[in-house]
Amino acid sequence: MNVRKLFILGAGFMGMGIAQTAITSGINVTVFDINEKQLAKGRDTVEKMLQKNVNKGRMEENDMKSALANLSFTTEISDCSDADFIIEAATENQDIKISIIKEVDKYAKDTAILTSNTSSISITTLAGHIKNPARFIGMHFFSPVPLINLLEVVKGLQTSKETIEKTIAFGEKLGKVCIISKDEPGFIVNRMLIPMLNEAFVLIERGIGTIEEIDEGMRLGLNHPMGPLELVDMIGIDIELAVMEVLYHEIGDPKYRPAVLLRRMAAAGHLGRKTGKGFYIYHEDGTKTPNTDLLYCK
Ligand SMILES: NC(=O)c1ccc[n+]([C@@H]2O[C@H](COP(=O)([O-])OP(=O)(O)OC[C@H]3O[C@@H](n4cnc5c(N)ncnc54)[C@H](O)[C@@H]3O)[C@@H](O)[C@H]2O)c1
Repeated sequence: MNVRKLFILGAGFMGMGIAQTAITSGINVTVFDINEKQLAKGRDTVEKMLQKNVNKGRMEENDMKSALANLSFTTEISDCSDADFIIEAATENQDIKISIIKEVDKYAKDTAILTSNTSSISITTLAGHIKNPARFIGMHFFSPVPLINLLEVVKGLQTSKETIEKTIAFGEKLGKVCIISKDEPGFIVNRMLIPMLNEAFVLIERGIGTIEEIDEGMRLGLNHPMGPLELVDMIGIDIELAVMEVLYHEIGDPKYRPAVLLRRMAAAGHLGRKTGKGFYIYHEDGTKTPNTDLLYCK
């Protein structure tokens, strides 16, 4: 299958990361969002990221121009009608995802493959809301998408073999190495990652280590490229909490129960990098300092 056009639903952190990866792989991409400000912000982010690559000598100026020529934005979901692949990358909420998927299914062509980048919601459940569940599948990318080479391909109960094969071929065209997961909560990677991240929140709650010590511990001790609290700030506290709620609800094991601290941070709007404050405070000069409000004190 020659994928000429990709339609992405959601111009957030992941939607734009997937868009950047696809346009630099020569694919024509249209990004849809209900929020026009997100579309403008998304365009700006991709332009800045590609310009940075050019400035650092990682990309030719002409290649940047042709990549950007492949990118367009819309607030009309019906613009998906000529897409070969559709990736839903909107807010991690089952009701929102179902309503978007139902809507996009009205306009998508019969041969199009519909996918979701959900981190936790069941692919089989989402697939139940489209005309042909055999062509629905999970494409779980990792952040930041242009840099992380893994793609988890999630097979729902009704996903066809043909859909799996086409999705793997498309993932490889995007430069990703694909692993296939059964449709179980958290798939392969988050099933292991989430309890580790949750334990880092508990360490903060109990005052066992400081924010910097916990991150440094995992960076130096286990050679992780970033500490767990830095990682959650990049993922987004709201996304992390939503994922944990699904995993805890579906699996029931207390190791997936979100730490109280995570709920409080979400309630306070301290969502990580995207709001400028999470486990760290992000300054305009690009530096960050630990958010000491979170530490135990009398
Ligand atoms: N953040 C991560 O590291 C990460 C990693 C893997 C997968 N994911 C998954 O990717 C998805 C998106 O996460 P994100 O971090 O990009 O979130 P985000 O908050 O950055 O972006 C979500 C976007 O969805 C848009 N949106 C909301 N309702 C919509 C609708 N009805 N129609 C169209 N767009 C709508 C919002 O305007 C926003 O632009 C989630 O399912 C998340 O679980 C996230």
